[in-house]
Amino acid sequence: MRRIETKQLKPNMVVARSVSHGNTNVLAQAGMVLTVEAIKRLTELGIAAVYIREQYVPETIEPEHVIPDILRLETVALARANLSEAENYLKLDLNRVADTVNSIIDELLASDDIVVQLTGIRAFDDCLFTHSVNVCVLSIVIGISLNYNKSRLIELGVGALLHDIGKTRISPAILNKPDDLTRRECEQVKRHTTYGFEMLRNCAELSLLSAHIAFQHHERWDGQGYPRGLRGELIHEYARIVAVADVYAALLADRPYRPAYTVNQALNILERMTGVYLDPRPVSALVSNIAVYPVGSLVEINTGCIGMVMEVNKAAPTRPVIRIMVNNSGRQLKRTRLIDLSKSTTVMIVRALNDEDVDKLNLRQYVSVT
Ligand SMILES: [Fe+2]
Repeated sequence: MRRIETKQLKPNMVVARSVSHGNTNVLAQAGMVLTVEAIKRLTELGIAAVYIREQYVPETIEPEHVIPDILRLETVALARANLSEAENYLKLDLNRVADTVNSIIDELLASDDIVVQLTGIRAFDDCLFTHSVNVCVLSIVIGISLNYNKSRLIELGVGALLHDIGKTRISPAILNKPDDLTRRECEQVKRHTTYGFEMLRNCAELSLLSAHIAFQHHERWDGQGYPRGLRGELIHEYARIVAVADVYAALLADRPYRPAYTVNQALNILERMTGVYLDPRPVSALVSNIAVYPVGSLVEINTGCIGMVMEVNKAAPTRPVIRIMVNNSGRQLKRTRLIDLSKSTTVMIVRALNDEDVDKLNLRQYVSVT
C-alpha cells in the first residue's frame, strides 16, 4: 500500500483504504479500481491523497488503524453534525458525543499495543471535523499513557473533539483564506478559544474542564499563548495535552500551502517546540506511542541497502521488520527479502528516506515516503 497524491493517480490503480469526504459517504471503497471519472471527482472534492494497493507489499502489512474506519467515520459525522448545529445555535448532542468518545476509548484500551502509525491519523482532507477527530484520538492516546482513569479520559476526549467549536463563529472567508491573515483577521481567529468556552461552559451535560480545553488549547507552556497568556501548570493539563495533539495532527495533515510532514520531520518540529510551546510530559507520552518508522516508509540500513518497513515492534520501535527492495549498489531487487531488525544485532536503520531520495533512486512508482 502506498500513499499517492491525487494529482498523480492513474486509472486502473486499486484503492487500498476507503476514502471519505468528512462524512460517512465513502467516495472510493477499498478494492475499487480507479477510473478517470473517479479521479476527477476526488480531485474536485479536494482529496489530497489516496492509499493505493501496491504489488510489492502483501495485504498483511496494511498498517493498523488506530481506531476502526467505521468508528472514525461515525465520529467525523458526529463532529460535523454537532459543529454544524453549533453554527446554527441549536442544541449540541453531547450525550452522543460522550458515547462516541467512550467507544474510541474502549477501542484504544482494548489494544495492548497502541502504536500510532502515521496512516492511522493522517487526514485525507484537512477539514475541521477530521482534524477534530484526530486530535481527540491522539489526546486519548496521551491520556491513556499518563494513566488517566475512564472518567478523566471522557472529559479529555469530549473536550478534544470539541476544542475548535468556537471556529464555527468565525467567518469561513477568514478561516479558509489562502493568503496571510491581516492583524485584525488574526485577532478574530484567536477569538475562537473564548467563543468555544462560552458555547460549552453552560452545557449541563458537559464537564467545565472539557469547556476549558476549548478556552486554553492555544495557551503556551512559556506563557506566550492566547487568550490569557497562562504559563506552565497554570494551564489545565487537559488543554496542555490537546495542544500537543493539535500540533502533531496539524503537522501530519496536507495543507493547501504544503504537503504533510514526514513522521521524522514532525517529531523534530515537536521536539523543538517542547518546553517552549508545549509541556514536555504529554509530548513524551505521545512520542512513546508513535511509530518512528511507520509501516510503508522507506529506510536505509547500515549495509547501504534500502527497505520498506513492514511491521513495527512496539518494544523496539527503531528495529522494525523491513523488506529489502534496493541493494547497496542502488539496484532494485526482483526478489525482495525480509529482515526482522529486532532479531539482528548487526543490522540497523541509518536514516529514513525523504522525497528527494525517492526521486533519486527512482522509487516514486512504488512508494510515497511517509
Ligand atoms: Fe484552535
